[in-house]
Amino acid sequence: MKEKVLPGQFVEISTPGKNSTFLKRPISVYGYQQNQIDLLYKVLGQGTQNLSLLQPGQTVDMILPLGNFFTPPSPHSKVLLIGGGIGVAPLVYYINYFSSKISSLELSLLYGAENEKQKIELNLPNPFPGNLMFHSDYKNDIYQGNLLDFFISNSVQEYDLLIACGPHPMMKAFADYFSTKNVVMEVSLESNMACGYGVCLGCTIPTSQGSKTVCTDGPVFPANQVDWTKVWKH
Ligand SMILES: Cc1cc2nc3c(=O)[nH]c(=O)nc-3n(C[C@H](O)[C@H](O)[C@H](O)COP(=O)(O)OP(=O)(O)OC[C@H]3O[C@@H](n4cnc5c(N)ncnc54)[C@H](O)[C@@H]3O)c2cc1C
Ligand code: FES
Repeated sequence: MKEKVLPGQFVEISTPGKNSTFLKRPISVYGYQQNQIDLLYKVLGQGTQNLSLLQPGQTVDMILPLGNFFTPPSPHSKVLLIGGGIGVAPLVYYINYFSSKISSLELSLLYGAENEKQKIELNLPNPFPGNLMFHSDYKNDIYQGNLLDFFISNSVQEYDLLIACGPHPMMKAFADYFSTKNVVMEVSLESNMACGYGVCLGCTIPTSQGSKTVCTDGPVFPANQVDWTKVWKH
């Protein structure tokens, strides 16, 4: 195992099984200690289905750590982490990693899911080093507003740094909202990937700094570099 795996980085993992996929799948690091890596994933298609069927003792191939990472926070800073759905995974690693290293940080988590049933029990530090906020778009099938609506009507605090990971429309909405507010924001993007290490160029996106690959230049980008009209949606 590698010495250092930083929050925001991901692995490419093989998905063995009866219908194993040719390409490995990118999954963010959710937790990492010597000789142990934690991944949190949602079953979507064959690859993640295969992962869900793995048995203890079964072998997988993994390439790690891949990609860049979130900018480490300065001591005493107030960081807001915004996670939508399974996108919360790398943010949990960020919170556990930095709260154990820099005790003066205030790390708040704004976590959204479509409904209460989709809320994931997260492995978070106790006591939590900031505010922990959860919102579900639907409650008893009634629409309550999205995560940004919830944030705008509930947040009274100012933050030094924002970090978001989740569905692209969610990240775009927060990036637009904060674009005039003079606060640094980073986002972790998703894309379909083949090689995962910058060779196939299959994950290239246009940015204000030219073409970038999500797998090696990213997945973390400054929100104001992303051309949200051209980043594809899954
Ligand atoms: C850097 C990075 C980190 C990621 N971290 C995580 C993570 O921590 N946990 C996790 O569950 N997933 C994560 N993903 C997404 C994950 O890689 C995909 O969900 C997975 O590759 C799907 O593979 P599959 O074979 O199950 O589905 P496929 O058969 O490849 O796809 C099934 C269906 O899901 C859609 N789909 C595929 N990929 C995505 C996607 N990224 N988002 C939305 N829909 C998609 C396809 O269009 C298709 O309709 C990450 C992706 C990237 C690029
Ligand atoms: S997945 Fe091949 S270059 Fe990014």
